[in-house]
Amino acid sequence: MLEGMEGVSSFAKDVDLAIWVVIGMSLGIFVIVVGVMFYFLYKYSAKRHRRDQIKNIEHNLVLEIMWTVIPTFLLGVMFYYGYTSLKVMREIPEDNLHVKVTGQMWFWTHEYPNGKVTNDLYVPVGVNIKLDIGAKLNDVLHSYYVPAFRIKQDAVPGKVYSAWFRADKTGSYDVLCAEYCGTRHSYMLSKIHVIDKERFDTWYDSDQKTPFDEPGVLVAQEHPGLAHLEANGCTGCHSLDGSVVVGPSFQGIFGRTFNVEEGGTLKEVLADEAYLKRSILDPDGQIVEGFSGGMMQSYEGVLSDEQIDEIVDYFKHGDTLAQEAPAVDAMDILNSNGCTGCHSLDGSVVVGPSFQGIFGRTLKVEEGGTLKEILADEAYLKRSILDPDGQIVEGFSGGMMQSYEGVLSDEEIQALVEYFKGL
Ligand code: CUA
Repeated sequence: MLEGMEGVSSFAKDVDLAIWVVIGMSLGIFVIVVGVMFYFLYKYSAKRHRRDQIKNIEHNLVLEIMWTVIPTFLLGVMFYYGYTSLKVMREIPEDNLHVKVTGQMWFWTHEYPNGKVTNDLYVPVGVNIKLDIGAKLNDVLHSYYVPAFRIKQDAVPGKVYSAWFRADKTGSYDVLCAEYCGTRHSYMLSKIHVIDKERFDTWYDSDQKTPFDEPGVLVAQEHPGLAHLEANGCTGCHSLDGSVVVGPSFQGIFGRTFNVEEGGTLKEVLADEAYLKRSILDPDGQIVEGFSGGMMQSYEGVLSDEQIDEIVDYFKHGDTLAQEAPAVDAMDILNSNGCTGCHSLDGSVVVGPSFQGIFGRTLKVEEGGTLKEILADEAYLKRSILDPDGQIVEGFSGGMMQSYEGVLSDEEIQALVEYFKGL
C-alpha cells in the first residue's frame, strides 16, 4: 500500500467514511438504474409488444411520492456524513502547536512559534497541529494538499485559512500543491515528517536545520549566502549543479559573461558583484538570453543589504568551498561498486529497494524473524550498508548483498548518505 493511503490524521476515518457512503450509494443507484433499464429493454422489446398495445400512463401517485421521498432521504444521509466529517476538520482543538504555512512560487515554508523556518514540516506524533495556511502577497493561488491526512486547503495571498491535524503514526507524508500555479507547479512538493516527541523536542530547541541531521555537522559547513538562497526558495528555480530549471544555474555564475536583453537590445554583461546585485533587485531589467522575464519578483525589501552581500559572497566563493570539501562523488561510488545495478535511482524496483526518496521514508523491515517499522535516517542507511542482512526490507530477500564494511571508507559512506538526502 502507498505510504499514508490508509489515512494518518485523527479524522481521516471520518473523511473516508463520508466518501465510502457517497460511493456506496452511487454504486447502489447505478446498479438499480442499469438493472431496471436492461429489464425494460427485454420486457418491452418490440418483438414482444405491438405499438398499439402500449398504454399512455399520465400519473402514478405512489411512484411520484417514492421518487421524491427516497432521494431526499439519501441526500440527507450524504449530508449527515459530509457535515459530521467536515465538522471534525473545522473544530480546531485549543491545545495545539501552531505552524504558519506559506505558499509561493514554487515552494512551501513552515514557520514555528519560536521562529524556526523549514521547507518540510516536522511534527511530533500524537500532537494537535494547527496550520495557518496562506500565500505570499503578490503571489498566486496555491493549495496545501496532504493526501495522507485528507487535508486540502487553498492558500490565498492576503488571507489565512486554518486547518489542523493530529498524526497518529510516524512516517513521512507528501505535501503537494493542488492549484495550478505556473511552470513549477508540479515540483511544489514538501513532506510532513511525523517523528517521536523526544526527537522533535531535541531538534526544536537546537539550531539544526532538520531533525535528521547529525548535531552541528551541516550547520557549520553551510555558507550563510546559501542559507538565504534556500530559505527564499531561490534554488527552486536556479540550480546549484549547472542544470537549467526556470532561471540560469548558480553554478560558476560569478565572473561568467552573459548575453542579456535590456529594453529590446541584446548585449554582453559580466556577472560581477554589481550585476548580481542588480539581478536580485531588478530581475526583469536585464534578462539572460534564453530565459523569460516576469518569472521572478524583486527581492528589494525582502533581503537585507547584508543578506545580499552574503549571497554574492557565496557566488564568489561557494565553488571553492565545494572544491575544498573531500573529493568524493556519490554517483561514482554507487556506480563503481555496482550499487545501481540492484537499487534503481528512479523508483523502479530491481533487486533491492530503490534509492529514490529513500531518506526519511518509513520502511517495514524484518529483524530476526519479527517485522518492525523503522525510519530511514542516517543511522539506518549506514547500518544497511555495513550490515545489509541485519534488517531486511519487507518484500525483499536477504543474502543478496555483501557488507561494504572495509570496502567503502567512512567518508565515502557519509557522502552516500548525504547524496540520499537529496534524492
Ligand atoms: Cu503552487 Cu501549484
